[in-house]
Amino acid sequence: MSVMRVLVSGGAGYIGSHTVVRLVAAGHDVVIVDSFANAKPTVVGRLEALTGTDLPVHAFDLTDKDKTERLFATEKFDAVIHFAGLKAVGESVQIPLDYYVNNLESTFSLLRAMRRHGCDLLVFSSSATVYGEVAPVPYQEDYEPLSASSPYGRTKVMIEHVLRDVAGIDERLKVAMLRYFNPVGAHPSGTIGEDPQGIPNNLMPFVAQVAVGRRERLQVFGGDYPTADGTAERDYIHVEDLAAGHVAALQWIASHDRKVSTWNLGGGRGTSVLQVVAAFEKASGMPVPYDIVGRREGDLAAYWADPSRANAELGWRAERTIDEMCADTWRWQRANPDGYPD
Ligand code: UD1
Repeated sequence: MSVMRVLVSGGAGYIGSHTVVRLVAAGHDVVIVDSFANAKPTVVGRLEALTGTDLPVHAFDLTDKDKTERLFATEKFDAVIHFAGLKAVGESVQIPLDYYVNNLESTFSLLRAMRRHGCDLLVFSSSATVYGEVAPVPYQEDYEPLSASSPYGRTKVMIEHVLRDVAGIDERLKVAMLRYFNPVGAHPSGTIGEDPQGIPNNLMPFVAQVAVGRRERLQVFGGDYPTADGTAERDYIHVEDLAAGHVAALQWIASHDRKVSTWNLGGGRGTSVLQVVAAFEKASGMPVPYDIVGRREGDLAAYWADPSRANAELGWRAERTIDEMCADTWRWQRANPDGYPD
């Protein structure tokens, strides 16, 4: 395996930061670009402590074409892992134009700079949300047509199409699109983790904040789904497994000729909301009081990945159990009850 110089966009964010640690451990040179719109600069010091290296950081938004061009003109990258983007489903319904402009323009700006400066490998953060509402479960990569029920999700669908079209005519560009299921957990050191701003939208950070006493009760959205316990089922994947999947995908596209690769990164099984609550109570030793309320609009009953393509091609699998996901989330939450310091 050859050592690569990798630009990680959104490298200060939740999945990006965990991937940075893995990339450095695998011997790669990492450069971070992050707007810090949704991440705290203090994460960088934590990453440097964890990796034992100095991490170059460029603080700007990739929608700025001139700054992106200048970065590529002054530094040579072998690959880009593109995490940067707006990602809150509910917010994307309120400010859709911001989502389309930000997520698409940052990708265009990167693609142009990569083309101009001979950087030919791109790993993109896609989402299971591109399977839409009617794809059969478990989700398989070849399913079409892609669709999504929120502006956020539609930016992922659109960017997948853009990347397919662009890689289709560019002789050198190779692209990996990684469809994440539900990323949770934190680095086992407890020094980096998910740090949502404001009230968490997603289940695991909300549960963690109830356990640590920052919020009173969890609302369980829907108790009448056609599932074993009536609550919705998702395919939770430990962020450490997800990070390892990025390194494996990057190394795979570097050493294979295929232009466009799509891989599901999930565990291949569903876990219900109440099973998450029970696992978290066990891992933390803290009670997580909850009320079952009405369904959240746009939520599906149950879905999970068919991860067999990633298993076979990348030799990768999601290994960590829901108990480990909860234990690692708890270690991070307990040590950082208010997230990263300013
Ligand atoms: C959400 C997004 C998805 C995105 C993913 C990123 C929606 C509709 N989908 O997935 O596009 O890629 O996050 O991780 O928002 N729940 C509760 N109470 C809560 C929060 C959540 O009961 O306070 C339930 C939800 O109804 C759902 C499950 O927990 O059944 C997981 O929810 P969440 O963590 O928000 O993820 P998704 O909705 O699956």
